Order: sequence, then C-alpha cells, then structure tokens
Amino acid sequence: MKERRVVSDERPPPAETLISEKELGARIQELAAEISAHYSDSVPILVSVLKGSALFLADLARAIERSIEIDFMSISSYQSAGAQSGVVKIVKDLESDISGRDVLIVEDIVDTGLTLNYLRRTLEEREPASLRAVTLLDKAARRIVPVPLEWSGFEIPDVFVVGYGLDFQGRYRNLPELLAIKDLARLANEPLLLVPSLFEEG
Ligand code: IMP
Repeated sequence: MKERRVVSDERPPPAETLISEKELGARIQELAAEISAHYSDSVPILVSVLKGSALFLADLARAIERSIEIDFMSISSYQSAGAQSGVVKIVKDLESDISGRDVLIVEDIVDTGLTLNYLRRTLEEREPASLRAVTLLDKAARRIVPVPLEWSGFEIPDVFVVGYGLDFQGRYRNLPELLAIKDLARLANEPLLLVPSLFEEG
C-alpha cells in the first residue's frame, strides 16, 4: 500500500505515517506467536476494550493458533473528575465469568496507564487464574501509573496517533495504518481536515 502523504494546502502536512500496514501485520504475527506459545495448555479469554482495540483484537485473534474465547468491555472516564483522574466507570461489562480463567486484556494503546491500571485492579478482584495484558502501542514516556504490560507491539513517542482503531473525535478508526498527527490544534479546528486526502482521492 502506498505511503500516505497528507497534504491539504501549502502548510506542513498535518499528519504522516508512523507505522505502516505491513509493519503492523508483521508485529502482530510475532505477538500472536508468543501468546500462542504462552497459552499452550489453556483456553484464554481475550478481553477487548472497546472501541479502540477492536481492530487489533480482530487481527491478533486470527493469528493466534490456539482455542480462545473473546469478550468485550467498554469503559469511560468520568469527565467531571478530569481527564487524568483515573476514575472510570464500566459502560459495558464482560458477559463471561472469568473466575479461574486465564485472561488476556487486549489494549490499543497504553498512555498514562490509568485505564489499564483500573482494568487490572477490577478484573483481578474477580479472581482469574491469571491476568495478563497485551497492547499494540505503548507511549511509555507519558506513563503516570507504572502498570505491568506483558506484551507490547510498539513503543511510540509522545505523539497523538489515529488509525487502526484509534480515533480523533470518533473518526479515522478505519485507516489500515497508524498516522501521527503533527498539528493537533489544527485538526481540532477542522476535524474533517484529513478526510479528503485519506478517503476521497484516487
Ligand atoms: P491511558 O492514558 O493509558 O489511560 O489511555 C486512555 C485512552 O486514551 C486510550 O485507551 C486511548 O483510547 C486514548 N489515547 C491515548 N493516546 C491516544 C492517541 O494517541 N490517539 C488516540 N487515542 C489515544
């Protein structure tokens, strides 16, 4: 697939490819091989945190050559408590009983670590046999809470990324690759700025 050069006018491009579709695919195969080897004698439950990790889950699950189960959770931050409070609520809970099971949390990105920390504490209380986490992306430099991360796809710098499940104001999740947003303020003013060059050109 061609490299995206997102140019809408004379100013510097507001976004550029950070990780290509090919690189994502190759790394996910490696992660899946490690995860398959780890769970050689159990049927783990993969817990996907909606919505961002849905695309990663779909590719990871298909690359795992073992019997697995899949379940979904959705959580949201309490806006009034502030973006980095770590106070979240469960919007959609798991359907599975995870007690005594091997559980693998599948995350799209670990940034401050607050979300994963909350999830780990919450799921640990349900007494799974084991609890591990895999994230596609790790913004390690932004970590506020140190949180165990058993598998990580890519460590990325402190840039805002969209694509492959990750959004900006709900958009761009369906890009097959990861774009780094160079000018977030500009995109905030014009949320559809990237749409013509990404989705409507040849
Ligand atoms: P946390 O800061 O580790 O709790 O991450 C919280 C959530 O912030 C992630 O699950 C993502 O939904 C979102 N997030 C963090 N960084 C980015 C980014 O660069 N692009 C899109 N979403 C992000």
